[in-house]
Amino acid sequence: MFEILKKEELAQGTVVSNVIQAPMIARKAKPGQFVIIRVNETGERIPLTMADTDPQAGTITLIYQVVGKSTALMKSLKEGEAYQDICGPLGQPTHIEKWGTVICVGGGTGVAVLHPITKGMKEAGNQVVAIIGARTKDLLILEDRMAQASNELRVCTDDGSYGHHGFVTEVLKEYLDKKDPIALIVAIGPVPMMKFTCKLTQGYGVKTMVSLNPIMVDGTGMCGCCRVTVDGITRFACVDGPEFDGHLVNFEELIQRQRAYLEQEKQSLERFQKSGCQCNK
Ligand SMILES: Cc1cc2nc3c(=O)[nH]c(=O)nc-3n(C[C@H](O)[C@H](O)[C@H](O)COP(=O)(O)OP(=O)(O)OC[C@H]3O[C@@H](n4cnc5c(N)ncnc54)[C@H](O)[C@@H]3O)c2cc1C
Ligand code: FES
Repeated sequence: MFEILKKEELAQGTVVSNVIQAPMIARKAKPGQFVIIRVNETGERIPLTMADTDPQAGTITLIYQVVGKSTALMKSLKEGEAYQDICGPLGQPTHIEKWGTVICVGGGTGVAVLHPITKGMKEAGNQVVAIIGARTKDLLILEDRMAQASNELRVCTDDGSYGHHGFVTEVLKEYLDKKDPIALIVAIGPVPMMKFTCKLTQGYGVKTMVSLNPIMVDGTGMCGCCRVTVDGITRFACVDGPEFDGHLVNFEELIQRQRAYLEQEKQSLERFQKSGCQCNK
């Protein structure tokens, strides 16, 4: 069992941060890696990226957006309660080295995933610019921590309630137009955001890494659920990724595959909201 030591609600309660006791995972985890979590013994397997780790304290931090039944069930757990299983660290760590100038672009809950990578890039001696966005000011997460993790932070909101009024791609374009050398861009967020970021950076010929979030089940490369097409080749995001060269990703296919169980997910959430979790009944 994995105890929740600290629970915090962010973004008006739509995003939840959990600090969880998981010493073995905390010791091994590297930026970019994820875990698969089950709330209880009949629970669904949910992949979540580690937003932070503390090997000394033996804790990992998971930040998740409440979007369906399992994340709603996760949110119902209180401090002192525990998750049944946490499996990890899974996936390939981010390739961190001294590249030069690195721009880290994050949207929505993707900022949580981007945080350890941004921190790692700065610690490796890169000049790190972070550009983060949300639909509106109240939905923006981890602004302070991203400011600490980077050398320069720019904030955007779609509705102009805070920072730049518009998409993260618009601020990124300002940097690309300056023509100062940019060695690498890391973009993490909703698939449309990653897709449009890659479309933009392709025109400037700047290497762009994205972190993909297809549906996953086992997380070990056995079930084939998380397959994505990269450079015309089938790859498994759980073992080959989750990070890939964004200029080679087939985003249309990813969007289509993510929608495969929309109706079932909707029904499951509706049943949960009406009568709670039925798994153990
Ligand atoms: C590797 C990986 C791991 C993940 N791990 C987690 C996790 O640990 N926890 C979790 O909850 N989720 C995780 N996700 C899911 C993902 O982060 C969320 O689905 C996503 O952030 C949803 O955010 P949102 O609904 O707030 O998006 P929205 O509110 O729709 O948009 C957020 C931002 O994206 C920008 N944007 C949207 N569309 C465009 C566009 N067309 N062009 C430019 N910018 C655009 C907006 O301007 C806005 O700033 C993970 C995703 C990835 C890629
Ligand atoms: S989740 Fe099963 S192969 Fe990746």
